[in-house]
Order: sequence, then structure tokens, then C-alpha cells
Amino acid sequence: MSAPALEVCACAARLAGLSISPALGIFRPAAQQHQALIALAQDPQCCVSILVSESELVGYVAFHPPSAIERWGSDRTGEIIELGAIEVDPCYRGQTLAKRLLQASFADGRFDHTIVIATLYAWHYDLKRSGLNEFQYKRLLEKLYRSIGFEPYRTSDPEIRLSPANALMARIGPGCPAAVLAEFERLRTQPA
Ligand SMILES: CC(C)(COP(=O)(O)OP(=O)(O)OC[C@H]1O[C@@H](n2cnc3c(N)ncnc32)[C@H](O)[C@@H]1OP(=O)(O)O)[C@@H](O)C(=O)NCCC(=O)NCCS
Repeated sequence: MSAPALEVCACAARLAGLSISPALGIFRPAAQQHQALIALAQDPQCCVSILVSESELVGYVAFHPPSAIERWGSDRTGEIIELGAIEVDPCYRGQTLAKRLLQASFADGRFDHTIVIATLYAWHYDLKRSGLNEFQYKRLLEKLYRSIGFEPYRTSDPEIRLSPANALMARIGPGCPAAVLAEFERLRTQPA
């Protein structure tokens, strides 16, 4: 099997022209996830980086403004971005593709004036396929995200505090304005 091609911030038309691997179903059924990724790619505030093998989408990472239903959605600066989902087809896991997807997405500095958050929820972990327990899986993701500059942060966010296997991580861009950092601190610590 040849290595999939990596494309950073693919446009909606490109995504729509691909099929999606049915194995990309960790967040929602693959067909629905495909439509969600196409919708995100239409928004200039979002970025969907992809792995493609013979016109099939076999992996992706999606960045978007936080949803209004999360506390992070009340960001008053509009500069906090969420790494909302990352998924690699099980046939291609363990080949550093997730790491490369992330590295490529940050490489041109597009997120250097923002804070990118990642909310790690145990109910999204692929424990069955990985054979890991939820704390081992959390460590795997923490290590993966640390490799591109994320750090873990304590938070009062009740959803994250639902499980000790959940976590908040964030990458504070080197050019991030003080006002964005202050807003991140406000949201991170606001009473539940
Ligand atoms: C998490 C995920 C994206 C990783 O994809 P991947 O392409 O296999 O990851 P990589 O090959 O880049 O590996 C990243 C690191 O994780 C480690 N890793 C990956 N799979 C592992 C496993 N099953 N057991 C232990 N370590 C593992 C790798 O060894 C690597 O660490 P290293 O840099 O020390 O070598 C993939 O497992 C996946 O799609 N999981 C389901 C979706 C998911 O959990 N998303 C996050 C939800 S919050």
C-alpha cells in the first residue's frame, strides 16, 4: 500500500470529489462526516487537512471556531480555534500520518496568531481497535499533540471534568495577542 498524499486546508470542491473510507466512523458515520468536512471547508475560518489514497479520503484533521454549545464558543475575540477532529483510517494507523497531518497544518504559521484548543473526550477514543485503556489512549493523544506544541491545561469546563480521562490541550501561537490569551484564561477558568 503506497503512502497517502497529504493536502493542507483542502477546498470544499476537492473534498466533494473524493470518496470517503467507510472506516472513518469514529465521530459519526463516514458519509455524514464527509458532508460535515465539506461544509467546514467552505468556511474561510476553517481548515480541513486530508490524507488521500487513490481518490479516497483516508484521514483528516479539522480546525474550526468552537461551537456555540461549548463554553469556548463564547470567545469574544473570534481568535480561538478548535482542533475539532482528527482521524486516520485504521489500515493506515501507526505510520506517523496523524503527526504529519498536524505538522503540515501548522507549518506555514496560519495558527501562529491564535490559540488552538483540543478537547480530548474519552468517549471518542478508539479503545477497541487500539487495545489501550482510556488513560493510555489519553497519553497517546497528549504525546501526539505535544509534538506540535500543544500543552495540557487544567480547566473548570464541566464537560472536560466529566472524566479524568478527558483533557484540555492548547497551542498558544508565538504571535498570539495578549487579549486572546486573556480570553482563553477567562474561558478556561470561568465558574462551571
Ligand atoms: C489518534 C489517531 C489519529 C492516531 O493516528 P496515527 O496515524 O496512527 O498516529 P501516528 O502514527 O502519527 O502516531 C502518533 C503517536 O501515537 C502512537 N500510537 C499510535 N497508535 C498507537 C497505539 N495503538 N498504541 C500505542 N501508541 C500508538 C505512535 O507510536 C506515535 O507516537 P511516537 O511519536 O512516540 O511514535 C488514530 O489512532 C485515530 O484515528 N484514532 C481514532 C480517532 C481519535 O481517537 N481521535 C482523537 C479523538 S479526541
